[in-house]
Amino acid sequence: MGDRIVLIGPMGCGKSTIGRLLAARLRCRFLDSDAIIVRQTGVDIPTIFAIEGESGFRAREHKVLVELSQSDERFVLATGGGAVLLPENRPLLRSIGEVIHLDISIDEQLKRIRHDRNRPLLQVDDLPTRLAELAQARAPLYREVAHWRVFSDGLRADQVLNRILRHR
Ligand code: S3P
Repeated sequence: MGDRIVLIGPMGCGKSTIGRLLAARLRCRFLDSDAIIVRQTGVDIPTIFAIEGESGFRAREHKVLVELSQSDERFVLATGGGAVLLPENRPLLRSIGEVIHLDISIDEQLKRIRHDRNRPLLQVDDLPTRLAELAQARAPLYREVAHWRVFSDGLRADQVLNRILRHR
């Protein structure tokens, strides 16, 4: 457990970017639960949502987390922004490793994920309202699950990385 890091947080907070850098520094594998699901199904995330709905996607996400919790490999894991939604995932995420909440403001999130076509939950006319709704529902869950949090507004990726490395 001490050897594994799990990144949680809202869409666009940098889980994959930071996760990749962190894994390189720690000389371990980088894993991305969305990428694992895409590999297992052979289709992209919008297709999974279209065919199986969000609940089908959540079931797949849960299964991946269970599999990873049973592995004894060292890795850094980037999760999807909704990985904290299923109550059973919350202790599971903490059992996988040290959970870091990468946090950003909605303004920053908007800058990073405007015109995104690969995130089904963001295909709405009023993106600021959607992001605010998601944040309201999920922020308490990120806080509950995380061992600690990094607020990354205004920080470059290398600065976020250094904060994480210093904290450990
Ligand atoms: C989701 C976030 C996405 C992906 C899916 C659902 C969410 O991952 O898992 O589109 O519910 O917030 P990212 O956080 O990597 O964009």
